[in-house]
Amino acid sequence: MATERTLSIIKPDATKRNLTGKINAKFEEAGLRIVAQKRIQLSKEQAGEFYKVHAERPFYDELCTFMASAPVVVQVLEGDGAIQKNREVMGATNPADAAPGTIRAEFAESVGENSVHGSDAPETAAEEIAYFFSGLELVG
Ligand code: CDP
Ligand code: MG
Repeated sequence: MATERTLSIIKPDATKRNLTGKINAKFEEAGLRIVAQKRIQLSKEQAGEFYKVHAERPFYDELCTFMASAPVVVQVLEGDGAIQKNREVMGATNPADAAPGTIRAEFAESVGENSVHGSDAPETAAEEIAYFFSGLELVG
């Protein structure tokens, strides 16, 4: 399987509960390397731009408000099949459906406040990485 990079976000519910290290340990234990990482405060507008694919969904406004409610940690994860592997480590969107041992099963509070974001395909991974990181910040 090819080496890939994917965009991950540790969401406000998790940064507020001091879970960054525990979540990063899950990535590293799965063989994903954190090759870039920074803690930032999103504005609601920036969150809305990031999640614009969901603009017509009923949860969009609440999602954007939540993502701007406290700092997030944005990160680039690298590894063999990193996009799919990260989705597996994250678990299902709704923590009630997430497999045991996944980040969302262990840490998520609800379907909205579900601790992590992960890109879902190579095209979105490239777009989402470029939204947060410059080439100079990606040292591998
Ligand atoms: O994050 P993931 O790719 O698993 O799910 P998504 O379908 O792309 O939805 C993006 C985010 O919107 C989720 O992670 C949730 O935070 C939120 N969401 C929500 O609040 N209520 C839903 N019914 C579905 C998603
Ligand atoms: Mg998604």
